[in-house]
Amino acid sequence: MVQATPLLLVLSLALGAHSLSPRKCNLTGTWKNDLGSNMTILPVDEKGNLAGLYNTSVADNSSKIHQSPLLGFQKLTNPIHQPTFGFTVNWTFSDSITVFTGQCFVDKHGKEVLKTTWLLRLHVNNIEDDWKATRIGTNVFTRLK
Ligand code: BTN
Repeated sequence: MVQATPLLLVLSLALGAHSLSPRKCNLTGTWKNDLGSNMTILPVDEKGNLAGLYNTSVADNSSKIHQSPLLGFQKLTNPIHQPTFGFTVNWTFSDSITVFTGQCFVDKHGKEVLKTTWLLRLHVNNIEDDWKATRIGTNVFTRLK
C-alpha cells in the first residue's frame, strides 16, 4: 500500500496534465459551413502552407458556380493545438476574391470547429463604386471527413 502511493501520484499528475491540454485541431480534411458550402484542405506542409478546394453553395450568380482553389497558411508556432490560419479563395467563375481568417478549435464536446471571418471583394467597373465592393461575414465550419 505504501509503495502504491508514489505510483498513484505519478498517474494522477499525468492524467491531470493530459486533461489540461486540449485535443489537437487538425485543418486537413473536408469541412462544411453554416451556409452549406464545402471545402477540402489538403495536408498542411512543414512550413504551414495549405492548399485545397472550395465548393460554395451561394454566389452572386449562383447558376454558374464551380469548384475553386484556395491557398493559405496555418501558424505552426506554439501553441499549435488550436491553430490560427488564413486562406484566399480564387473564384474560378467570377471576378471576386474572398479571404478567410480564423482559428481551429476543439469545442466542449470534443468536436473540431473552424470559426472564421471573411472579406469578399467584388469587381466594380469604376472607383466611384468602390464603397460597395466589399462584403464581410462569418462562417463556422464543422468536419465532414
Ligand atoms: C462570388 O459570388 O462571386 C463568389 C462566391 C462567394 C461565396 C461567398 S465567400 C463567403 C461566403 N461563404 C461561403 O461559403 N460562400 C460565401
